[in-house]
Order: sequence, then C-alpha cells, then structure tokens
Amino acid sequence: MIDVRELPDHLELVTLDEAARAVGKTSHNIRDYIQRQRIGKYNDQGETIQRAKNGELRVSLKELRIFLSLVEQGNEKHHWAGLHPELGFHGLAEKQRTKHVHRLHPYLGKFIPQLVEWFLSRYFQPDDAILDPFMGSGTTLVQSAEMNMHAVGIDISPFNCLIAKVKTAKYDVTKARAEILDIEKKVGDFSKSLSNLGETHLFPDEFKEELLAELESEYLRTWFAPRALLEMLYYRRLIPQYEYQDLLKVVLSRAVRSSRLTPHYDLATPKEPLPVGQQYWCRKHNRQCIPIDNCMKKIHAYSEDTARRLAEFDSLRSDKSSVVIQGDSRKIDLKESLADTPLAARGIDGIFTSPPYVGQIDYHDQHTYAYELFGFPRQDNLEIGPKKRGKSKQAQRNYMDGIAAVFKNALPVLTPDAKIFVVANDRFNLYPEIADLSGLKIVETFHRAVTKRTEQGDNPYQETIFLMTKT
Ligand SMILES: C[S@@+](CC[C@H](N)C(=O)[O-])C[C@H]1O[C@@H](n2cnc3c(N)ncnc32)[C@H](O)[C@@H]1O
Repeated sequence: MIDVRELPDHLELVTLDEAARAVGKTSHNIRDYIQRQRIGKYNDQGETIQRAKNGELRVSLKELRIFLSLVEQGNEKHHWAGLHPELGFHGLAEKQRTKHVHRLHPYLGKFIPQLVEWFLSRYFQPDDAILDPFMGSGTTLVQSAEMNMHAVGIDISPFNCLIAKVKTAKYDVTKARAEILDIEKKVGDFSKSLSNLGETHLFPDEFKEELLAELESEYLRTWFAPRALLEMLYYRRLIPQYEYQDLLKVVLSRAVRSSRLTPHYDLATPKEPLPVGQQYWCRKHNRQCIPIDNCMKKIHAYSEDTARRLAEFDSLRSDKSSVVIQGDSRKIDLKESLADTPLAARGIDGIFTSPPYVGQIDYHDQHTYAYELFGFPRQDNLEIGPKKRGKSKQAQRNYMDGIAAVFKNALPVLTPDAKIFVVANDRFNLYPEIADLSGLKIVETFHRAVTKRTEQGDNPYQETIFLMTKT
C-alpha cells in the first residue's frame, strides 16, 4: 500500500461513491482496491481503521489517484493477482443475490447463492448429495434443490433450522398463499380496531389485556412499542389454526425483527431500544426518522412477498430431498439421522459449507426476538467460535478443535472421493492445521473479494474457499 505519510497534502477523504465518480471507476472497483490493500480505509477523521461502521468508510482520493497512476504506468499490473476473477460477482444485482426464498428471512453471515452455484455446477453432478454441517439459513440446501441435487444441513440453532426448513419445504403454494393472506387479514382487522376503526366490538379492552397477559418476555416488552406487541401476540395466537405453521412463524419473525424500536440502519446489530416516538438522525435514509410503533406495516410488507417467493422457488426446484437436522455437528450421528430419509443407503458426495469464524458472530443472539417470541430452546453454549468467547489464542485453539471435530464426524458418511469445500475468512491461518487435525488435505484454494453480501455492510474483505479431500 502507498504510504500516506508521504502524501504531500491532506488526504482528501471521500466516500466510495464519490471516489468512484471522481476517477471514473465503479464503487466495486474501489472496494476491490481496498480489499487488495492498494488503498487504505479511513474514518471521516482521517484515522486508519480496520472495520468501518455503517456509512463511516472513507478513502483518500489522493492515495487513490497515485495508485491509479501507478497502474497506468504498468507498475501495478499484479493488482488482481491471487483473486479469482469470477468469484467476486461484482456485477450481480441485489435482486439476484436475494432471489426467491433466499430473502424469506434476514440472517447475518449468509453466503450468496451464486457462490454455491459456481462450485456445485463445476464439481458435482445432478443427483449428487451435498452436506452442509454449518447450514445457517440453508443457502446450500436451497441451491442444491435448484440444481437437482440432494442436500443435508445441520445447525445448532433451532431458529436457523426453522428458517432452512421453511425455505426448503415443499408446499401446496395456493394453500400457502391463502393461509398467509388469511392470517394477515385477521391481524389487519385487529390492528384497525386498535385505531378505533372497523369492527372494534370484536376486540374489547379485556381481549387486549388477555393477549398482553400471554407475554412472558421482558425482552419483548423492552424492544417493541405497545401496539406492535399486541399485533405480534395476536398473530402468534392465530398460528395454530393453520397447516403451514412454521411458514407463518417465519413471516411473523421477519416482521417482528423489522418492528423493533431500533434505528433503521442498525437492524442487524441493534444496541439498545429507542424510546417510542423519539426522533433520531437516520444514517440509512439521511433524514430524521422515528422508530416504528407497530408490526402490521411489516406483516403487510412481507406476506404477499413471501407467497410470491415460495411460488417462484417452487417452479424452479427439483424434487430432490432436503434434510434439515438440528444438533451439534461435532457429535450428531449422521448415519442414524439419515436412516429414515431417501439418503440412507448412499454416500454423501461432498460438503459445501461456511463455518462460523472465530470470535465474529453470536448466531443465537442475532435472533433473540424470535427465541423470545416462540420459546425455542437456545443452544448458545454449543456454538463453535462465538463472538462472546473472543479471538484469543485459546479461543482459536478451541475453534480449531471444534471445526476439526465436525469434519471428522462427517467422514464416515462421505464417499471416498468426496470433495469438501470450506468458505472461510481465515485471517488467523487456522485452516491448514484444521485440515491436518481432520484427516483431510487441502488440494486447492480460491481467493475472492467479498464486496457483495446478502446482509450489506461497508467492510469489504477477502475470503478463501478451501477444497479438501480425504487423505
Ligand atoms: C457462517 S454461518 C453459515 C451460514 C450459511 N452458509 C448461510 O448461507 O446461511 C455458521 C453456522 O454454524 C452454526 N454452528 C455453530 N456451531 C455449530 C455446531 N456446533 N454445530 C452445528 N452448527 C453450528 C451457527 O449456528 C451458524 O448458523
């Protein structure tokens, strides 16, 4: 990287879009230069930073211009070296990254379906079976179903398993739509009664008190406006009347997540609830906003959207099986878990997975609202490498042992020539040792710049995809 201390004048800090306009490049190009460490990352005070908070990231126009002039002179001809040209997915529109059921519920830490597709289409055949022992929200399973492959996913978090099940389940899509819209209408009628509109006599005050009495969670009481609470509790109460209950839980959970008393720019990692009705400066919308005080608006927004996405996926998917297993991938008895499935009598042809990375995300915590609303049992203490246990040497040691235990546990169900793809942002270089510990060998590595994520953030980073095989 260019030494900014040698720059003659001030840094000329600009946002990525401003930088792109100033030098006639795209903001993806600028992200790539950052990723390749050709230019630095700054905050708006000109301090070098590792991670930028939303909207904070600045680059130095001066530094950028010097770098580009070096490129022009041919002194930077290797600036793409090492990064796979097809794996950046720079031109990919958000609509594609979040196609059909991939957008049914937000999830921090998803990989994009196109990454899965790229590898599955080159290394596997239709009818193969793929395992994802860190299934998360089920991206590998959905993509496998789309590509005529069987898939098995395991995750420790019951809520992640619910999202994955709902995405991969087969529906009578007409019935699913009817149920989603019916419950939306009923909760809509209730919501009107809260504004003294519609059939108010159906929902007397005692009814609302009765609903609130069902609220056991202090967390929910703190994070939602009173009206939002009533609407979500009524929706929850109606769910048992329908066939596709898990699907309705996911629609409600998505609406609930967006109805927390949190700034619009902070939905993925909210810090503390805002008081009802209090204005704040919104970095996402660049204006004063107030936190949402109801849940109905989001129930409306997501009901039709969910029905449409299910129908779209239904028309694309194959009839291959998708198996979701909740449990600890270090210990789960895969042979037994697959015994009653169409995959019982066959080997698994490969793994495509992105494990948690050491000390980065608490996977249960990001969905606390859903655990509180539905009462799913939490298994936080079995998460490998959670953020709350940090990135110390000891945390790294535990992480390596944990990930290796998962691969070792999967080996008996894998075919002898199984291909194992592991997507990791391996900044501590832990994977060579993990491969050794697991009885695997790394046969190829692919590097990609991550500038397009399903959950957007301002921090581009580099990711490695390790291809491993049995030794
Ligand atoms: C990076 S995320 C996977 C995201 C996924 N590729 C997607 O697109 O949604 C890692 C997942 O590993 C899960 N996990 C952590 N420890 C686990 C364990 N011991 N057994 C099974 N899953 C675990 C977390 O709950 C999390 O969902």
